[in-house]
Amino acid sequence: MCGIVGFIGRQQAAPILLDGLSKLEYRGYDSAGMAVYDGQKIRVEKSTGRLKVLSELTHDGSTMPGTVGIGHTRWATHGEPSDRNAHPHCNTEKSIAVVHNGIIENYMKLKKKLLDHGYEFISDTDTEVVAQLLDYYYKKTNGDIIDTITRVMHRVEGSYALGIIFAEHPDHVYALRKDAPLIVGKSKDGNLIASDVPAILKYTRDVYFIENEEIACLTEDDIRFYNIDGEPIEKTSRTIEWDINAAEKGGYEYFMLKEMYEQPKTVRDTLNPRIKDGQIVIEELGMSDEEIRAIERIHIVACGSAYHTGVTAKYIMEGLARIPVEVDLASEFRYRNPILNKNDLVVIISQSGETADSLAALREAKAKGVKTLGIINVVGSSIAREADRVMYTWAGPEIAVATTKAYTAQLIAHYLLAIHFAQVKGQVTDEEVAEMLTDLKAIPAQIEMLLANKEHIQKIANRYVGARDVFFIGRGIDYAIGMEGSLKLKEISYIHSEAYAAGELKHGTISLIEEGTLVAALVTQKDLYKKTLSNIVEVRSRGAVVLAVTNEDNTEIEKNADYVIYIPQTNKYFTNSLAIIPLQLFAYYVSVGRGCDVDKPRNLAKSVTVE
Ligand code: G6P
Repeated sequence: MCGIVGFIGRQQAAPILLDGLSKLEYRGYDSAGMAVYDGQKIRVEKSTGRLKVLSELTHDGSTMPGTVGIGHTRWATHGEPSDRNAHPHCNTEKSIAVVHNGIIENYMKLKKKLLDHGYEFISDTDTEVVAQLLDYYYKKTNGDIIDTITRVMHRVEGSYALGIIFAEHPDHVYALRKDAPLIVGKSKDGNLIASDVPAILKYTRDVYFIENEEIACLTEDDIRFYNIDGEPIEKTSRTIEWDINAAEKGGYEYFMLKEMYEQPKTVRDTLNPRIKDGQIVIEELGMSDEEIRAIERIHIVACGSAYHTGVTAKYIMEGLARIPVEVDLASEFRYRNPILNKNDLVVIISQSGETADSLAALREAKAKGVKTLGIINVVGSSIAREADRVMYTWAGPEIAVATTKAYTAQLIAHYLLAIHFAQVKGQVTDEEVAEMLTDLKAIPAQIEMLLANKEHIQKIANRYVGARDVFFIGRGIDYAIGMEGSLKLKEISYIHSEAYAAGELKHGTISLIEEGTLVAALVTQKDLYKKTLSNIVEVRSRGAVVLAVTNEDNTEIEKNADYVIYIPQTNKYFTNSLAIIPLQLFAYYVSVGRGCDVDKPRNLAKSVTVE
């Protein structure tokens, strides 16, 4: 969702803003713009479409002189995608420019007040209301900026990360946030603001995380912070360890392919530091054995692929540790008044750590006094900061909108958690744990093998670039794998696709199977082989073409499927980590074959920071 950058320093701002925005493209957007103070006035350039259009418009930023500016990629919420609605937005005199990520919920009320005071609006956005409200208080406070900003903060309801410049104070960039991500970077050539780390990694690793209702005031050489009452506050910077190359394509055609190929490493990075002397050690969990034994129920709450991790985790946690698990979509959890007891644990899974619904679910759980644990990829993100405990997935920056490496890292985190809980509760023997750890350690090399088989999958994918519908079926964990495989395919190829619990097919979905319909069948659970096999026979007898993903020793499937992809042997609880690889590749090659923008699918955002 919307991306924000800002720069103030000794170099020309516009090229730096464009570069930063290009690193935020993954968030999803439909228009882009910049505002730069050119020495006399604020100049704004903006346009619908890709960043390329803005780059062309400004000759890569060269036609926008000035060393102070803000930039934005917009993912439309209030008002259609258009030049008029693109950010930055200004006050009428164009002496204040604003970029915004989030939603101002009471903007209609504020707009009415401003209209009554004679203000006029040229866009449909809530952001223009903020620009005019800043103008209103700026005049009322005789140009006291911190007072102006805090008054605006007290008036607006909703979520915001804002970057602001004032023509009358051209040696400052202001930034503030509430429930939308924003960071400040400190570099020797100047200071920066951004929605996310990749945008500034080229310039600095020294980062301040702005907390809710805090203000940052940046000059060329200095950064000051204030709270919502305008009082100065002290903050400490953190050093970002991410490898800068991780945010570059590194020779791959798409980030998604690169990130798929990083999975052996990211699985290792998430796994290895937590296995010490043959034991699982999750130091950051900070839970005593007594606390673990006292857990009565786990609630896993997440969105998108992270939710699919949760569905898999339910089977594993219940199977191994015998702790009841409920899995909820965050958007549902927060409004259904969930029953949470004091001995429950709420686990929020999120790559970005910024998904608005997941963050709200976390707060709901905390408000009810329940212990919370975040399984998060982005260090220092909102959920990571607010959850009682955090277990990081060490997948590094993920740029492609469709998640791959963060998803497989989340699975690993849950395997570790489930085995650890099972061990503490005495549900597994030391021998069983040792066997599982051996299987876990083999996963990275097994993923490598599966990735090496890409040509085979590409060939199958090429035959289905014109498919209208694709169904994914499976039982138990296989059903969860199908959910993720289906999401991958539909989000990047725009082919209609659904995942069904194989046993549920007969209750409606089977009527959609026609001659030639592709059905991907997941058959990795030995105790369910026969059951799923009979579902394969059912769909095939109605004309379906079956692509089966199964274990190496299950050759019986060959007689009944049109294509078979084998995954290496592993513990029954870990098959998702392997079976998802061919499904990721399949989705990728179908998308490439259809000429889609693999990394930036239409209408989607990587980090969904609005409800
Ligand atoms: C978006 C992304 C998905 C992701 C979901 C949840 O829809 O496109 O890939 O799974 O958000 O995001 P989170 O950052 O909370 O894992």
